[in-house]
Amino acid sequence: MTKLTQPQLEDLVDRARTAAQNSYSPYSNFRVGAALQLTNGEIVTGTNVENVSFGLTICAERAALVRAVSQFGPEIRIAAVAIANLNGLASPPCGACRQVLAEFILPVAPVVFPMANGVRTMAFSELLPLGFEMKLK
Ligand code: THU
Repeated sequence: MTKLTQPQLEDLVDRARTAAQNSYSPYSNFRVGAALQLTNGEIVTGTNVENVSFGLTICAERAALVRAVSQFGPEIRIAAVAIANLNGLASPPCGACRQVLAEFILPVAPVVFPMANGVRTMAFSELLPLGFEMKLK
């Protein structure tokens, strides 16, 4: 798949925002959505699903990733990610989500997320430069 255009990235952000409308976040009221552009051309979205036992909460990014693998199988690769929230706040992907995305994402994939001063785009390899790897001999 070739590099995404700016309008394609903007469409991905719109889809993330739409996904956030389904957020189940009664504890934080922070409504997050994520959209993954896969190299197979498909787009998969997810939203955060909270739990009364707070630590069991699932972030939007991981919800989308689990859905993508479930729908399209373990060969998927992520070419771009967009994250949005309906609270008008910064929401770069959390560390846990970065590590989980690392399993399937291309290092050059753009990740678009809201910051206090507007939307920011970074290559995934900049967001997680030294993710855990396990290369046993
Ligand atoms: N959240 C996400 O969905 N993605 C992140 O990367 C960080 C946090 C969610 C989890 C929780 O439901 C709410 O935002 C507040 O932390």
